[in-house]
Amino acid sequence: MDIPPIPLGTWPTPLEPALRLAVALNLDELWIKRDDLTGLGGGGNKIRKLQYSCAQAVKAGATTLVTTGAPQSNHARLTAAAAARLGLRCTLVLRGERPATARGNLILDELTGATVVWAGDAPLDEVAAAQDGYVIPFGGTSAFAARGYADCARELLTQLPDLGTVVVALGSGGTMAGLVSVLGPERVYGVDTGALPDARATLAALLAEMGSPVDPAALRIDGSQVGPGYAALTDPVREALALAARTEGLFLDPTYTGRAFAALCAARPAGKVVFLHSGGLPGLFGVMPPG
Ligand SMILES: Cc1ncc(COP(=O)(O)O)c(C=O)c1O
Repeated sequence: MDIPPIPLGTWPTPLEPALRLAVALNLDELWIKRDDLTGLGGGGNKIRKLQYSCAQAVKAGATTLVTTGAPQSNHARLTAAAAARLGLRCTLVLRGERPATARGNLILDELTGATVVWAGDAPLDEVAAAQDGYVIPFGGTSAFAARGYADCARELLTQLPDLGTVVVALGSGGTMAGLVSVLGPERVYGVDTGALPDARATLAALLAEMGSPVDPAALRIDGSQVGPGYAALTDPVREALALAARTEGLFLDPTYTGRAFAALCAARPAGKVVFLHSGGLPGLFGVMPPG
């Protein structure tokens, strides 16, 4: 399938040295890949994948984009923003019931004019399939959309040719799969956020479908930060959020980048480490209890 991506972001994203954080963590070198600064809709990793999924949708003649997620889904917010940019309608199928007060990503979803369908406990995929429109899969991940992160890996190699380890949050898996397809499994360290029942199997299947098969055992997946489950705010995450903010003025999110950074703090990989900041800041205002 050779459909060119639709440009939705601002490229390349910066790669910034994090000198004070490197000292605080006793790392040889630490760089931050600023994929929180991808431009559209507040930015985040989902834009690189949406460039591919939206190209498929437009080619298929879609007039409405439909996608699914948790109430604080960054992917849902950015799909709504991409639809607005492309002059399409958008329906977001979100888990649970409408909260009494909209917060975080949900405020932004509503600002875009997207229709929000609350699915309760029903399977999100089934509710999405019943909507009128082109369905972009959970988390924006498909083998085709993951090409967006193969692009990011090539971009990184021009910015830091001898990079050692890229640390990245693993949700639906497309971001890590795209990076592994270019950098290989040794140089990508995925931090499981608890979004998938079997992250290793999903990653391996995606990579096989992308034409870059790997031995599932070779994938570096750190499961230490899942805690009580997806989106639960843990102490290591609180500490990671504070450390990044206090040393570099860098804000992370509680569900994805906070977990990935907490794992980096614990694992402290040697050599040139790149932390992929995949965005998600609005989620902080949706999950973090006040005070
Ligand atoms: C901020 C942020 N970082 C990382 C991820 C994980 O990306 P992926 O779903 O491609 O594994 C997500 C997914 O929702 C996200 O919102």
